[in-house]
Order: sequence, then C-alpha cells, then structure tokens
Amino acid sequence: MERTLVLLKPDCVQRRLMGRIISRFEDKGLNIIAMKMIRVTQELARKHYAEHVQKAWYPSLEEFITSGPVVAMVVEGPEAIRVVRDMVGATNGLNATPGTIRGDFGCSRQMNLVHASDGPESAARELAIFFREEELCPYTPTIQSWLRAKDE
Ligand code: CDP
Ligand code: MG
Repeated sequence: MERTLVLLKPDCVQRRLMGRIISRFEDKGLNIIAMKMIRVTQELARKHYAEHVQKAWYPSLEEFITSGPVVAMVVEGPEAIRVVRDMVGATNGLNATPGTIRGDFGCSRQMNLVHASDGPESAARELAIFFREEELCPYTPTIQSWLRAKDE
C-alpha cells in the first residue's frame, strides 16, 4: 500500500470540477483517507515547490497556486503514487493523453487542475508538509473484497 498527496489546484476549485475529479479517484478504487480545503501561503508554496523555486517560471506558479483555495487529499492504494500520476497525465494539458484528468479537462501547462506526488520520496515529503499524522483517517472500505483478489 502507498499513500500519495493530491492537490486540487485553484483552477479546479474555481471551475467547479472538484467533485468530478474526486470521483475519478473513488471510481478507481483508491481510498481517500484525509482531505481539507486550504489557502496556500507564499511560504507553503515555496516549501511544496522547493525543486522549482529557482526556475524562471516559479513566480508565476506561486501567484497561481496562492490565488484561491485548494483541496489537499491523501490518496491510498496499491502502487497509488504511480497509479495517481498516470491518472493525472502529462504536465501540459495540451499534451496529456485523453482519458487522463489533465487530458480531459485542461488546455494549459500551468492551470493543470491537479498536483500528484511524483515518487515515494516526494510523497513522504509532501504528505508531511500538508498533513499531521493525526489528521489521517485510514479505513477499510466495506467493498474491499470486490476491488481485488485477496492475494493481489
Ligand atoms: O505537476 P507536474 O509534476 O506534472 O509538473 P512540474 O514540472 O513538477 O511542475 C509543477 C507545476 O508547475 C506544474 O504542474 C504547473 O502547474 C507549473 N508549471 C508552470 O507554471 N510553468 C511551467 N513552465 C512548468 C510547470
Ligand atoms: Mg512535479
């Protein structure tokens, strides 16, 4: 089992797409074990996007990600980090494969609706930035036995 951080970015909230995108993760059989709406501060943006802070386009990204509320979620499941990245699609909505979230809903490189951790190290780092351990609500869904075989 893996846990990954998903953010519904300000464009997702403003465009009223939260429900449809959350539904995709639920439909896939992933477990949402924590969720909250927050306003990303400049400080939080710099921490979360530490690898990008020096890039020429960072100021524009910071302006975007702090411009409205976001929804932060912890998504859990087998191979959840890769599975969620695959569901999200390529960074630029213009290149993202149809069927992915960015491919179906986006036409922008910046306003691409969703953030998802890109590997085990970034997942651990990002989960700790957005959630305290006591905010997580792990549970076994009652339909568990219909999601996959016992030995999977
Ligand atoms: O989110 P992802 O891992 O696919 O892309 P990234 O390369 O790690 O970039 C992080 C975020 O910065 C993207 O999701 C875009 O919202 C934004 N970005 C941007 O504003 N301008 C760029 N030239 C590249 C990325
Ligand atoms: Mg990234």
